[in-house]
Amino acid sequence: MMRKGIILALMVGLVATACGGGGGEKKSTTTSKKVEVFSWWTAGGEAQALDALVKVFNQKYPNFSFDNAAVAGGGGSAARAVLATRLSANKPPASWQSHAGQEVLSNYADAGELQSLNSLFQQQGWTSVMPKGLIDLLTEKGTIYAVPVNIHRANVIWYNAAVLQKNGVDVPTTWDAFFAAAAKLKAAGVTPLGLGNADKFAVKQLLETILLATLGPDKYTGLWNGSTDWNGSDVTAAIGTFARALTYANSDYSSLTWDQAAGLVAKGDAAFTVMGDWAEGFFKAQGLKPNADFGWAASPGTDGVFDMLADVFVLPKNSPNQAGTMAWLTVAGSKEGQDAFNPIKGSIPARTDADPGKYDEYQKWSLDQWKTDTIVGSLAHGAAASSSWSTDIDTALGLFLTNNDKAGFQKALAQACVDAGKCS
Ligand code: GAL
Repeated sequence: MMRKGIILALMVGLVATACGGGGGEKKSTTTSKKVEVFSWWTAGGEAQALDALVKVFNQKYPNFSFDNAAVAGGGGSAARAVLATRLSANKPPASWQSHAGQEVLSNYADAGELQSLNSLFQQQGWTSVMPKGLIDLLTEKGTIYAVPVNIHRANVIWYNAAVLQKNGVDVPTTWDAFFAAAAKLKAAGVTPLGLGNADKFAVKQLLETILLATLGPDKYTGLWNGSTDWNGSDVTAAIGTFARALTYANSDYSSLTWDQAAGLVAKGDAAFTVMGDWAEGFFKAQGLKPNADFGWAASPGTDGVFDMLADVFVLPKNSPNQAGTMAWLTVAGSKEGQDAFNPIKGSIPARTDADPGKYDEYQKWSLDQWKTDTIVGSLAHGAAASSSWSTDIDTALGLFLTNNDKAGFQKALAQACVDAGKCS
């Protein structure tokens, strides 16, 4: 208790240093100027969005210098590995990207790597401009551990409008409709489903959206709290649909990245891709226009459900530059920062008071859906399962992709839930 009190008192001082205008910034230059921020935002759309956030940071805090420590690799698996090495050597960057939910809590907060951000949230008034449900995903035993910069949607199917029109295909609202369209497209020599799993998250994300479509939101959420049986016939059906969907993907999916797969859709070599809305940022970075060159819908069978994830930044226990970290976090959570970053990223702001006029047609749709849909958490992007559970699912999935043993895959998924301590 006492320790917590000391940290909180310290934090108030740090916030004052980071945000208190010229005086505070001058003080911080006597320690360190460099603010090293770790992320995996290097692809089209992602990199430009980060640049826009850094621009706000540079304007607000000219005495600090931003050091971009992004490690390439969609979904962050390469970045997380590099970060783990840094953390075990006790050389954390000033801040790093993680995901709201189990990833930030089970990976970093539980390991004692993070400091409380309660004072920053209080000082900035964030608890009243960010949804409670989101803050809950950043909180453990009353301590808030991360600052969310956005909300991404994982369950989106993107399409090349010209390819659909040319082939007389509608946007599928169910997987059966997708398979009918896919047969037609395949016969015409078009890849139905662009897929890029080089970074080992796109196939998992496809699986999660099919589980969601087959089980519905309540039973899908039950998979993560132990109330849904992984051995059930609906999971069997979802695995069958998933295996069938993979047969309509480009055959080189294991070596393409997510953005290369989105590139197939952009060029018209593939009709559809199921991907989070960072793909929107990618399409726009290619100069494509929403609702003209590309379109979108809820991934088949998931209309009315928002499969969410949020990118967050943290304050490490041994930050090399505490005041610099606080400055970065202050910008990441600010209205100005979020309204600069998200319109380019494809995501919507984590704040409820952002300026809707700054967002495009896709994002206006997403903002509406966020308000009205049933919300569930993404498996592939850290919201639903602990990192160790998620890694067990990766192992089972990797095996399935080589042996196509559906029953064995379901058994391994059920066992992963038992090993995670959520199922008996
Ligand atoms: C997600 C992340 C997104 C996007 C995507 C592809 O994990 O939340 O911001 O960057 O990976 O790299």
